[in-house]
Amino acid sequence: MKLNKLILDNFRNYNDLDITFDKDVVCFTGLNGQGKTNLIEAISVLGLLNSFRTNNYDEMKKFGEEYFFISGEFTDKNDNRLSIKISYSDKKKKVTFQDKKILKFSDFWGNIPIVYLIPDESVITTGPPLERRKFVDKLLSMIDREYFSLLKNYSKIIKQKNKILFDLKKENSFQTEMIDVYNDQIVLYGSKLFEKRVEFLKGFEKFFKDILIFISDGLFGGSISYSSEMDQKSYSSDLREKLSVNKRTEVYRGLSIIGPHKDDLIFDINGNDLRKYGSKGQHKLFLVALKLSEIKYIKSITDEYPVFLLDDLYSEIDEKKSAKIAKILDEDIQTFITTSNSGIIKQFDQNNTKIFNVINGAVNLV
Ligand SMILES: Nc1ncnc2c1ncn2[C@@H]1O[C@H](COP(=O)(O)OP(=O)(O)O)[C@@H](O)[C@H]1O
Ligand SMILES: [Mg+2]
Repeated sequence: MKLNKLILDNFRNYNDLDITFDKDVVCFTGLNGQGKTNLIEAISVLGLLNSFRTNNYDEMKKFGEEYFFISGEFTDKNDNRLSIKISYSDKKKKVTFQDKKILKFSDFWGNIPIVYLIPDESVITTGPPLERRKFVDKLLSMIDREYFSLLKNYSKIIKQKNKILFDLKKENSFQTEMIDVYNDQIVLYGSKLFEKRVEFLKGFEKFFKDILIFISDGLFGGSISYSSEMDQKSYSSDLREKLSVNKRTEVYRGLSIIGPHKDDLIFDINGNDLRKYGSKGQHKLFLVALKLSEIKYIKSITDEYPVFLLDDLYSEIDEKKSAKIAKILDEDIQTFITTSNSGIIKQFDQNNTKIFNVINGAVNLV
């Protein structure tokens, strides 16, 4: 997938920007606070309809303005043109794809695959289990409709059950019969979620291992394993049993504590738990390898490379490693990079790069 044209109207610090891209590696340079990340954000919103910065479209509206409008023209691998337009005014979002109105955002997901790597995402390797589940859930929701609807149903059940548990706790009641109905559903959807996640990991980890070894020059071997309180050989029956055994505890806590919404991924580097023993550099490299694997995985499933957005990555990565990253991305993957150091662009195929300078919401070719 390639972005050929981007239009921003009252988006963040942009007035009216109309810019075309004819290269696969696009670099936005400039000082801090000029609007580099805003550009990456706009591109991600075109593909995902959500911002990595906020859930509130109001924040994306230029200060003091009444509306914003953004649009993108993409081409897929078969040279089909894809056009997406998003406008926002009076608290209303209007999204059209190929000039047809999108009523449900999830119906659109996957049409314009985007993978981004932004500094905030360091929490995927350093943060709590929730961050790693989000990584998997977001990726799979994008490319697997069934996963998305399973997850939606599952989350709904958990929410409803939590409400009941909360009420029971408040009333000091241990009348647990009514949560059996919810537990049946948790077993049903939860074990399918587990199966899909494990199946995904099998394919994903292959890419991941190769990529980590490659970019670390053979220094680091990595692995990813699924971690759960349930016995993974008999997940479904064990889930059922643990739900039943822990019923009173859940009521006591007023919270649903058993199920795949508590599962985690364990990241190992050279045989040690990254979270416990990894250096800062290892965390960073692991994260980059996760994202590059995401790109490869999406391509393996959908036969289309996503557009890759890299925000301020290169500040902490040494030249040898970033050259390796460039080598992977040179493989027909359109990559947008924001950086204050445009020197890193030299590592990419020079016939395929373009550098823009960003100054206070204006973008100019260098
Ligand atoms: N809704 C908005 N309207 C106008 N300007 C905004 C809005 N949101 C952020 N900005 C401005 O955008 C700038 C930050 O842009 P950003 O892309 O994050 O910078 P950088 O070039 O460092 O990546 C700041 O100057 C900020 O004030
Ligand atoms: Mg920035």
